[in-house]
Amino acid sequence: MSDEQNNNPEPEEANGPRVPLPEAPSRGYFEGESVTRRNAFIVSSQVLAGVAGAAVVLPTIAFALAPVFTPFEERWEAVGVIDDFTSDNYRAVVFTETLGIGEVGKTTAYVRKGSSEYEGESDDEFVAISTRCAHLGCPVRYVQAAGNFICPCHGGVYDFVGKRIGGPPPRPLDRFQTRVEDGKVEIGPRFSVTNQLKAVRVRDPGEFTGGIWEFLYPPRPSTPPAP
Ligand code: FES
Repeated sequence: MSDEQNNNPEPEEANGPRVPLPEAPSRGYFEGESVTRRNAFIVSSQVLAGVAGAAVVLPTIAFALAPVFTPFEERWEAVGVIDDFTSDNYRAVVFTETLGIGEVGKTTAYVRKGSSEYEGESDDEFVAISTRCAHLGCPVRYVQAAGNFICPCHGGVYDFVGKRIGGPPPRPLDRFQTRVEDGKVEIGPRFSVTNQLKAVRVRDPGEFTGGIWEFLYPPRPSTPPAP
């Protein structure tokens, strides 16, 4: 084979000469577009992620903050006439603490007439002590023979005015506000007390009251203000 034959260019393809393709547009753009497809996908996926995030976060925030803006509705209920109560013994009364939830909204309190014999009381007031144990919330019972409130769950014991004297409860028993209207004793909103029986905003069972605990266990905004 001669040198001339060896230098021949590649044979043309059977279907004819190769036609060069038109120059490709820049990657991601179509004619008339000002944003690449990649950027369009990024932006739309970020918008979708934002909407999905807002759908989860906004209701949570609204749920948490709603109680702050919901005014507390004070409720009073008559539980007997003045002469039904004495200062040396308690009488158990059942009343509705939370409206609209049926029997579950009812609670029991031990009520007696106040006495200047006891710290911070006067003879013309009434004292209503909650039966909800300040430890974990079991119902306590007043035992007249001992003059104490006893909790059956873990042995919590409270004295005559509801101060803890034994067992695991971290604070005295809660109380309810009282007043007299038309000769009837009425029970109002619940409140908690410190070990010195100073009224504070109501706390959940297990929470201490007074001193630094007021900051460590801040009250829930949905609870009534302290009297
Ligand atoms: S619930 Fe009353 S002592 Fe524990």
